Amino acid sequence: MVNSLPQSSARRKLVAAAGISALLPFASQAQQQVLIKFSHVVAPDTPKGKGAERFKQLAEERTKGRVKVEIYPNSQLYKDKEEIEALQLGSVQMLAPSLAKFGPIGVKEFEVFDLPFIFKDTASFRAVTDGPVGELLFKKLESKGIKGLAYWDNGFAIMSANKPLHHVSDFKGLKMRIQSSKVLDANMRSLGAIPQVMAFSELYQGLQSGVVDGTENTPSNDYTQKIHEVQKHITVSNHSHISYAVIVNKKFWEGLPADLRTILEGAMKDATRYANAIAETENMQALDKIKASGKSTVYDPTPAEAEEWRKAMFVVHKDLEERVGKDTITSVYKASGFLPPK
Ligand code: LMR
Repeated sequence: MVNSLPQSSARRKLVAAAGISALLPFASQAQQQVLIKFSHVVAPDTPKGKGAERFKQLAEERTKGRVKVEIYPNSQLYKDKEEIEALQLGSVQMLAPSLAKFGPIGVKEFEVFDLPFIFKDTASFRAVTDGPVGELLFKKLESKGIKGLAYWDNGFAIMSANKPLHHVSDFKGLKMRIQSSKVLDANMRSLGAIPQVMAFSELYQGLQSGVVDGTENTPSNDYTQKIHEVQKHITVSNHSHISYAVIVNKKFWEGLPADLRTILEGAMKDATRYANAIAETENMQALDKIKASGKSTVYDPTPAEAEEWRKAMFVVHKDLEERVGKDTITSVYKASGFLPPK
Protein backbone atom coordinates (compact mmCIF):
# COMPACT_ATOMS: atom_id res chain seq x y z
CA MET A 1 0.00 0.00 0.00
CA VAL A 2 1.39 3.37 -0.83
CA ASN A 3 0.76 4.95 2.59
CA SER A 4 2.74 2.18 4.36
CA LEU A 5 5.92 3.41 2.66
CA PRO A 6 7.96 6.33 4.12
CA GLN A 7 6.42 9.49 2.66
CA SER A 8 9.42 10.44 0.42
CA SER A 9 9.78 7.13 -1.45
CA ALA A 10 5.97 6.73 -1.82
CA ARG A 11 5.87 10.20 -3.24
CA ARG A 12 8.77 9.44 -5.57
CA LYS A 13 6.93 6.38 -6.88
CA LEU A 14 3.74 8.37 -7.46
CA VAL A 15 5.58 11.13 -9.31
CA ALA A 16 7.44 8.54 -11.39
CA ALA A 17 4.19 6.72 -12.18
CA ALA A 18 2.44 9.99 -13.03
CA GLY A 19 5.38 10.98 -15.20
CA ILE A 20 5.29 7.77 -17.24
CA SER A 21 1.51 7.78 -17.65
CA ALA A 22 1.66 11.43 -18.78
CA LEU A 23 4.15 10.37 -21.46
CA LEU A 24 2.11 7.36 -22.55
CA PRO A 25 -0.19 9.18 -24.97
CA PHE A 26 2.84 10.66 -26.74
CA ALA A 27 4.68 7.39 -26.69
CA SER A 28 1.61 5.58 -27.96
CA GLN A 29 1.05 8.41 -30.42
CA ALA A 30 4.52 7.88 -31.84
CA GLN A 31 3.78 4.15 -32.04
CA GLN A 32 0.12 4.75 -32.98
CA GLN A 33 -0.68 2.99 -36.24
CA VAL A 34 -1.52 5.34 -39.14
CA LEU A 35 -4.62 4.27 -41.08
CA ILE A 36 -4.86 5.08 -44.79
CA LYS A 37 -8.31 4.40 -46.25
CA PHE A 38 -7.89 4.06 -50.02
CA SER A 39 -11.23 4.22 -51.83
CA HIS A 40 -11.76 3.68 -55.57
CA VAL A 41 -14.56 2.88 -58.01
CA VAL A 42 -13.21 0.01 -60.12
CA ALA A 43 -12.87 -3.74 -59.66
CA PRO A 44 -9.81 -5.14 -57.81
CA ASP A 45 -8.53 -6.96 -60.94
CA THR A 46 -7.89 -3.83 -62.97
CA PRO A 47 -4.70 -1.77 -63.35
CA LYS A 48 -5.90 0.67 -60.66
CA GLY A 49 -7.17 -2.09 -58.36
CA LYS A 50 -3.88 -3.98 -58.59
CA GLY A 51 -1.87 -0.79 -58.17
CA ALA A 52 -3.76 -0.04 -54.95
CA GLU A 53 -3.09 -3.56 -53.63
CA ARG A 54 0.61 -3.23 -54.45
CA PHE A 55 0.81 0.11 -52.62
CA LYS A 56 -0.89 -1.48 -49.59
CA GLN A 57 1.57 -4.38 -49.57
CA LEU A 58 4.67 -2.17 -49.90
CA ALA A 59 3.46 0.50 -47.44
CA GLU A 60 2.60 -2.02 -44.69
CA GLU A 61 5.76 -4.06 -45.24
CA ARG A 62 8.19 -1.15 -45.37
CA THR A 63 6.70 0.74 -42.40
CA LYS A 64 6.77 -2.53 -40.43
CA GLY A 65 3.10 -2.14 -39.62
CA ARG A 66 3.24 1.50 -38.53
CA VAL A 67 0.90 2.16 -41.47
CA LYS A 68 -2.23 0.14 -42.29
CA VAL A 69 -3.88 0.59 -45.71
CA GLU A 70 -7.56 -0.39 -46.08
CA ILE A 71 -8.67 -0.61 -49.71
CA TYR A 72 -12.34 -0.11 -50.61
CA PRO A 73 -12.81 -1.03 -54.33
CA ASN A 74 -15.90 -0.87 -56.56
CA SER A 75 -17.37 2.30 -54.98
CA GLN A 76 -17.94 0.30 -51.71
CA LEU A 77 -17.05 3.35 -49.57
CA TYR A 78 -17.59 6.34 -51.89
CA LYS A 79 -18.79 6.54 -55.48
CA ASP A 80 -18.17 9.19 -58.15
CA LYS A 81 -19.06 12.73 -57.04
CA GLU A 82 -18.78 11.77 -53.33
CA GLU A 83 -15.19 10.55 -53.27
CA ILE A 84 -13.23 13.76 -53.82
CA GLU A 85 -15.34 15.68 -51.32
CA ALA A 86 -14.84 12.87 -48.78
CA LEU A 87 -11.09 13.21 -49.28
CA GLN A 88 -11.21 16.97 -48.82
CA LEU A 89 -13.14 16.44 -45.57
CA GLY A 90 -10.58 13.90 -44.39
CA SER A 91 -13.12 11.04 -44.25
CA VAL A 92 -10.84 9.08 -46.58
CA GLN A 93 -7.09 9.58 -47.02
CA MET A 94 -6.31 8.34 -50.55
CA LEU A 95 -8.10 8.08 -53.91
CA ALA A 96 -7.17 7.54 -57.55
CA PRO A 97 -9.93 9.27 -59.52
CA SER A 98 -9.95 9.42 -63.29
CA LEU A 99 -8.38 12.66 -64.58
CA ALA A 100 -11.83 13.32 -66.11
CA LYS A 101 -13.30 13.92 -62.66
CA PHE A 102 -11.55 17.08 -61.47
CA GLY A 103 -13.61 19.62 -63.41
CA PRO A 104 -16.43 19.63 -60.81
CA ILE A 105 -13.98 20.80 -58.10
CA GLY A 106 -12.84 23.62 -60.37
CA VAL A 107 -9.61 22.16 -61.73
CA LYS A 108 -10.74 22.19 -65.37
CA GLU A 109 -7.22 21.91 -66.79
CA PHE A 110 -7.24 18.17 -66.10
CA GLU A 111 -9.82 17.78 -68.84
CA VAL A 112 -6.99 18.27 -71.34
CA PHE A 113 -6.43 14.52 -70.94
CA ASP A 114 -9.93 13.91 -72.35
CA LEU A 115 -9.31 15.67 -75.67
CA PRO A 116 -9.97 13.25 -78.55
CA PHE A 117 -6.99 11.52 -80.18
CA ILE A 118 -4.51 13.71 -78.28
CA PHE A 119 -2.23 10.78 -77.34
CA LYS A 120 -0.96 8.50 -80.08
CA ASP A 121 0.40 5.94 -77.62
CA THR A 122 1.18 5.38 -73.92
CA ALA A 123 4.63 6.91 -74.26
CA SER A 124 3.18 10.24 -75.42
CA PHE A 125 0.78 10.21 -72.45
CA ARG A 126 3.65 9.45 -70.03
CA ALA A 127 5.73 12.25 -71.55
CA VAL A 128 3.06 14.62 -70.23
CA THR A 129 2.40 13.13 -66.80
CA ASP A 130 6.04 12.33 -65.94
CA GLY A 131 7.28 15.82 -66.85
CA PRO A 132 6.75 19.46 -65.83
CA VAL A 133 3.20 19.54 -67.24
CA GLY A 134 2.08 16.78 -64.89
CA GLU A 135 3.79 18.51 -61.99
CA LEU A 136 2.13 21.84 -62.79
CA LEU A 137 -1.30 20.22 -62.91
CA PHE A 138 -0.73 18.62 -59.50
CA LYS A 139 0.16 22.07 -58.13
CA LYS A 140 -3.33 23.23 -59.13
CA LEU A 141 -4.85 20.66 -56.73
CA GLU A 142 -3.11 22.03 -53.65
CA SER A 143 -5.44 25.00 -53.16
CA LYS A 144 -8.26 22.42 -52.93
CA GLY A 145 -6.57 20.65 -50.01
CA ILE A 146 -5.39 17.84 -52.27
CA LYS A 147 -1.84 16.54 -52.83
CA GLY A 148 -1.13 14.67 -56.06
CA LEU A 149 1.25 11.74 -55.55
CA ALA A 150 1.33 9.90 -58.87
CA TYR A 151 -0.30 9.33 -62.26
CA TRP A 152 -1.48 5.78 -62.95
CA ASP A 153 -2.30 4.62 -66.49
CA ASN A 154 -5.33 2.74 -67.52
CA GLY A 155 -5.51 3.03 -71.32
CA PHE A 156 -7.37 4.05 -74.45
CA ALA A 157 -11.16 4.17 -74.45
CA ILE A 158 -13.32 2.10 -76.79
CA MET A 159 -16.93 2.86 -77.70
CA SER A 160 -19.89 0.55 -77.14
CA ALA A 161 -23.63 0.50 -77.84
CA ASN A 162 -26.36 -1.96 -78.91
CA LYS A 163 -25.88 -1.04 -82.57
CA PRO A 164 -22.77 -1.03 -84.76
CA LEU A 165 -20.69 2.17 -84.38
CA HIS A 166 -18.72 2.45 -87.62
CA HIS A 167 -19.60 5.90 -88.95
CA VAL A 168 -20.14 9.21 -87.16
CA SER A 169 -23.76 9.09 -88.32
CA ASP A 170 -24.26 5.89 -86.26
CA PHE A 171 -24.09 7.99 -83.08
CA LYS A 172 -27.00 10.26 -83.97
CA GLY A 173 -29.38 10.61 -80.98
CA LEU A 174 -27.67 7.89 -78.90
CA LYS A 175 -27.64 8.58 -75.14
CA MET A 176 -24.00 7.93 -74.25
CA ARG A 177 -22.74 7.71 -70.63
CA ILE A 178 -19.67 9.79 -69.87
CA GLN A 179 -17.61 10.76 -66.83
CA SER A 180 -18.11 14.24 -65.37
CA SER A 181 -15.99 16.15 -67.91
CA LYS A 182 -17.12 18.94 -70.24
CA VAL A 183 -14.56 17.77 -72.80
CA LEU A 184 -16.10 14.28 -72.83
CA ASP A 185 -19.50 15.97 -73.15
CA ALA A 186 -18.25 17.91 -76.20
CA ASN A 187 -16.64 14.77 -77.67
CA MET A 188 -19.99 12.96 -77.71
CA ARG A 189 -21.86 15.99 -79.07
CA SER A 190 -19.32 16.30 -81.90
CA LEU A 191 -20.42 12.78 -82.94
CA GLY A 192 -24.12 13.70 -82.76
CA ALA A 193 -24.72 11.71 -79.54
CA ILE A 194 -26.41 12.92 -76.35
CA PRO A 195 -23.92 12.74 -73.46
CA GLN A 196 -25.15 11.74 -69.99
CA VAL A 197 -22.96 11.93 -66.86
CA MET A 198 -23.52 8.88 -64.68
CA ALA A 199 -21.58 7.40 -61.77
CA PHE A 200 -19.40 4.47 -62.82
CA SER A 201 -21.12 2.30 -60.20
CA GLU A 202 -24.49 2.88 -61.92
CA LEU A 203 -23.25 2.21 -65.47
CA TYR A 204 -24.12 -1.49 -65.83
CA GLN A 205 -27.64 -0.88 -64.52
CA GLY A 206 -28.01 2.21 -66.72
CA LEU A 207 -27.11 0.22 -69.85
CA GLN A 208 -29.18 -2.82 -68.89
CA SER A 209 -32.29 -0.71 -68.26
CA GLY A 210 -31.77 1.44 -71.35
CA VAL A 211 -31.41 4.70 -69.37
CA VAL A 212 -28.32 5.09 -71.55
CA ASP A 213 -27.68 3.42 -74.92
CA GLY A 214 -23.91 3.24 -74.88
CA THR A 215 -20.68 4.36 -73.30
CA GLU A 216 -16.91 4.65 -73.61
CA ASN A 217 -14.32 3.06 -71.37
CA THR A 218 -11.20 0.93 -71.40
CA PRO A 219 -11.43 -2.81 -72.09
CA SER A 220 -10.32 -3.63 -68.52
CA ASN A 221 -13.18 -1.58 -67.09
CA ASP A 222 -15.69 -2.93 -69.60
CA TYR A 223 -14.72 -6.54 -68.90
CA THR A 224 -14.55 -6.35 -65.10
CA GLN A 225 -17.92 -4.56 -64.92
CA LYS A 226 -19.44 -7.01 -67.48
CA ILE A 227 -20.37 -4.06 -69.72
CA HIS A 228 -19.85 -6.30 -72.77
CA GLU A 229 -22.79 -8.42 -71.55
CA VAL A 230 -25.18 -5.48 -72.03
CA GLN A 231 -23.57 -3.95 -75.12
CA LYS A 232 -23.94 -5.87 -78.38
CA HIS A 233 -21.34 -3.83 -80.29
CA ILE A 234 -17.90 -2.52 -79.38
CA THR A 235 -15.69 -0.40 -81.65
CA VAL A 236 -11.98 -0.34 -80.80
CA SER A 237 -11.76 3.41 -81.44
CA ASN A 238 -9.03 4.39 -78.93
CA HIS A 239 -10.47 7.88 -79.34
CA SER A 240 -9.56 9.12 -75.84
CA HIS A 241 -7.49 8.09 -72.83
CA ILE A 242 -8.52 7.15 -69.28
CA SER A 243 -5.92 7.51 -66.52
CA TYR A 244 -5.72 8.47 -62.87
CA ALA A 245 -4.29 10.86 -60.34
CA VAL A 246 -3.39 9.16 -57.06
CA ILE A 247 -4.23 11.83 -54.50
CA VAL A 248 -4.21 12.27 -50.73
CA ASN A 249 -5.70 14.70 -48.27
CA LYS A 250 -2.95 17.35 -48.12
CA LYS A 251 -3.28 18.06 -44.37
CA PHE A 252 -3.13 14.35 -43.53
CA TRP A 253 -0.08 13.81 -45.76
CA GLU A 254 1.87 16.79 -44.48
CA GLY A 255 0.98 15.83 -40.88
CA LEU A 256 2.71 12.46 -41.17
CA PRO A 257 6.09 11.96 -39.41
CA ALA A 258 8.72 12.80 -42.06
CA ASP A 259 10.35 9.38 -41.94
CA LEU A 260 7.00 7.67 -42.52
CA ARG A 261 6.15 9.99 -45.40
CA THR A 262 9.46 9.22 -47.10
CA ILE A 263 8.82 5.47 -46.84
CA LEU A 264 5.30 5.93 -48.24
CA GLU A 265 6.62 8.05 -51.12
CA GLY A 266 8.95 5.20 -52.02
CA ALA A 267 6.11 2.67 -51.80
CA MET A 268 3.98 4.87 -54.06
CA LYS A 269 6.81 5.19 -56.59
CA ASP A 270 7.22 1.42 -56.82
CA ALA A 271 3.47 0.80 -56.90
CA THR A 272 3.21 3.35 -59.74
CA ARG A 273 5.94 1.61 -61.71
CA TYR A 274 4.06 -1.68 -61.25
CA ALA A 275 0.60 -0.30 -62.10
CA ASN A 276 1.87 1.43 -65.25
CA ALA A 277 3.82 -1.65 -66.32
CA ILE A 278 0.72 -3.89 -66.29
CA ALA A 279 -1.88 -1.45 -67.70
CA GLU A 280 -1.45 -2.16 -71.42
CA THR A 281 -1.35 -5.94 -70.98
CA GLU A 282 -4.37 -5.88 -68.65
CA ASN A 283 -6.37 -4.03 -71.31
CA MET A 284 -5.20 -6.29 -74.15
CA GLN A 285 -6.12 -9.39 -72.15
CA ALA A 286 -9.50 -7.88 -71.22
CA LEU A 287 -10.28 -7.19 -74.89
CA ASP A 288 -9.34 -10.78 -75.78
CA LYS A 289 -11.67 -12.06 -73.02
CA ILE A 290 -14.50 -9.85 -74.32
CA LYS A 291 -13.98 -11.23 -77.84
CA ALA A 292 -13.82 -14.82 -76.52
CA SER A 293 -17.09 -14.31 -74.57
CA GLY A 294 -19.00 -13.87 -77.83
CA LYS A 295 -21.39 -11.52 -76.00
CA SER A 296 -20.40 -8.48 -78.02
CA THR A 297 -19.21 -7.96 -81.61
CA VAL A 298 -15.80 -6.27 -81.44
CA TYR A 299 -15.07 -4.11 -84.51
CA ASP A 300 -11.82 -2.44 -85.60
CA PRO A 301 -12.60 0.73 -87.58
CA THR A 302 -11.11 1.05 -91.07
CA PRO A 303 -8.53 3.86 -91.55
CA ALA A 304 -11.17 5.84 -93.43
CA GLU A 305 -13.68 5.46 -90.58
CA ALA A 306 -11.04 6.42 -88.00
CA GLU A 307 -10.24 9.51 -90.06
CA GLU A 308 -13.95 10.37 -90.24
CA TRP A 309 -14.19 10.22 -86.40
CA ARG A 310 -11.03 12.33 -86.01
CA LYS A 311 -12.31 15.01 -88.35
CA ALA A 312 -15.66 15.20 -86.55
CA MET A 313 -14.15 15.21 -83.03
CA PHE A 314 -11.15 17.49 -83.52
CA VAL A 315 -13.36 20.60 -83.21
CA VAL A 316 -13.41 19.93 -79.46
CA HIS A 317 -9.74 20.93 -79.17
CA LYS A 318 -10.68 24.44 -80.31
CA ASP A 319 -14.16 24.65 -78.79
CA LEU A 320 -12.96 23.76 -75.28
CA GLU A 321 -9.74 25.81 -75.43
CA GLU A 322 -11.18 28.52 -73.18
CA ARG A 323 -12.34 26.01 -70.56
CA VAL A 324 -9.20 23.87 -70.46
CA GLY A 325 -6.76 26.74 -71.10
CA LYS A 326 -4.81 27.39 -74.32
CA ASP A 327 -1.51 27.22 -72.43
CA THR A 328 -2.37 23.85 -70.94
CA ILE A 329 -3.37 22.46 -74.33
CA THR A 330 -0.26 23.85 -76.04
CA SER A 331 2.02 22.47 -73.32
CA VAL A 332 0.42 19.02 -73.67
CA TYR A 333 0.75 19.18 -77.48
CA LYS A 334 4.44 20.00 -77.08
CA ALA A 335 5.19 17.39 -74.41
CA SER A 336 3.25 14.61 -76.18
CA GLY A 337 4.37 15.49 -79.71
CA PHE A 338 0.73 15.89 -80.83
CA LEU A 339 0.41 17.55 -84.24
CA PRO A 340 -2.99 19.18 -84.80
CA PRO A 341 -4.48 18.30 -88.20
CA LYS A 342 -4.02 21.02 -90.83
C1 LMR B 1 -15.31 5.88 -65.21
O1 LMR B 1 -15.96 6.51 -64.37
O2 LMR B 1 -15.70 5.50 -66.29
C2 LMR B 1 -13.88 5.57 -64.86
O3 LMR B 1 -13.26 6.72 -64.40
C3 LMR B 1 -13.80 4.57 -63.78
C4 LMR B 1 -12.33 4.46 -63.40
O4 LMR B 1 -11.97 5.03 -62.36
O5 LMR B 1 -11.60 3.87 -64.20
